[in-house]
Amino acid sequence: MWGGRFALGPAEIMERINASIGFDQRMYRQDIRGSIAHCQMLVKQGIISAADGRKIVTGLRRIEEEIEAGGFAFSTRLEDIHMNVEGRLTQLIGDAAGRLHTARSRNDQVALDVRLWVRDAVDRVEALLHDLQAALIDRAEEYAATIMPGFTHLQTAQPVTFGHHLLAYVEMFGRDRSRFADCRKRMNESPLGAAALAGSPHAIDRHMTAKALDFDRPMANSLDAVADRDYALEFMAAATICAVHISRLAEEIVIWCSAPFRFIALSDAFTTGSSIMPQKRNPDAAELARAKSGRILGDFTALAMVMKGLPLTYGKDMQEDKEPIFDAADSLELGLAATTGMVRDLKANTERMHAVASADYSTATDLADWLVRSLGLPFRQAHHATGKLVALAVTKGVDLGALSLDDMRAVEPKITKDVYRALTVEASVAARSVFGGTAPKNVKKAVAAARRRFAAKTAGKG
Ligand code: ARG
Repeated sequence: MWGGRFALGPAEIMERINASIGFDQRMYRQDIRGSIAHCQMLVKQGIISAADGRKIVTGLRRIEEEIEAGGFAFSTRLEDIHMNVEGRLTQLIGDAAGRLHTARSRNDQVALDVRLWVRDAVDRVEALLHDLQAALIDRAEEYAATIMPGFTHLQTAQPVTFGHHLLAYVEMFGRDRSRFADCRKRMNESPLGAAALAGSPHAIDRHMTAKALDFDRPMANSLDAVADRDYALEFMAAATICAVHISRLAEEIVIWCSAPFRFIALSDAFTTGSSIMPQKRNPDAAELARAKSGRILGDFTALAMVMKGLPLTYGKDMQEDKEPIFDAADSLELGLAATTGMVRDLKANTERMHAVASADYSTATDLADWLVRSLGLPFRQAHHATGKLVALAVTKGVDLGALSLDDMRAVEPKITKDVYRALTVEASVAARSVFGGTAPKNVKKAVAAARRRFAAKTAGKG
């Protein structure tokens, strides 16, 4: 492509380190879409003839079909997707192909392709997050009144409802969606027309190509347009946070499936067996979904380090952006889809959850709150009295509700038998009807509200 100045070909190792076609062929659709928009603009501006424009567009469409059909011969000698497409276009239409690259450089071309690819990835992720939320909301509705132990420090804290627990993730994934939507808005400007770095002397119309490619506007600075990949970093930062959310849910699934817990079971569809221990059922999908978070953060770190300290504008270093971007997107998409599958698949062991929620003095706070509300004790004093009652119950090896009224009164003389009603797990969750609380009737309302709040898909909206 630059044969004019070069007499000899590259060393074999030069060709190998230089080529990106092995991975950037994934951007063929974006590359061809960008080229068609560029070509149509060149025709409209009278920079190339309509006849050449027609040949170019027909040729590009044919190349897209060839690639899609799997019949395209990618060549390392032609380095990357941009030159592979142009090389084939030359074979197909001859000299006219040479006019496509007027007023364009591979620098703005690759900046455009990567941007379009990331934007498409954001739209896929948005749809997957929407599906995951829908699955969580459906299951939350089903388990709105199912009582489970709520944990802090992974120690039984207070009873909660399983539906409420699942809706916590709906909120997290909702914020992830808004992070992706936010990053999509910011990235939605076209770098095309920045050419190599300084802009072009041809009378191109950057607004026209921006519009044709569904961007809000062309990027304001040509140097910035070819030099930055912050939108990709932003995508991977949002992906990392989202993957961390997935990893927490996945970890809970692993714990809940484990024999000492037995809170849920996954079916054959989402578990694997052991090659040696015939009794085993392993939650591999959850473990892998959990692991993706580390990998995606690694991808973010890799690109951040490539970009760090690079002088403006383009440097070949930036060719190293693609593999982490693709890997982060692939890993996140797979993790999201697998998590949705598990959420739809899991079956709660409601008796077991109830039994564990009822053990370990989980309603001790309810006793303290009862002392405050019914007897007017200051909370600190109520906390102290309850602590004594818990210690007594531990000594006797019974639940709080199994202490006699006399035992209770020995600690706090004004206690009445009404206290027992406050000590069941059902009463405990029902009492927490404050906005955002775990009460079953709240969960039912929250399910309906979540369906409204998260119904609209934002994909494709700049
Ligand atoms: N394959 C290159 C990349 O991925 C395309 C841009 C090449 N630009 C250049 N000036 N050599 O970054």
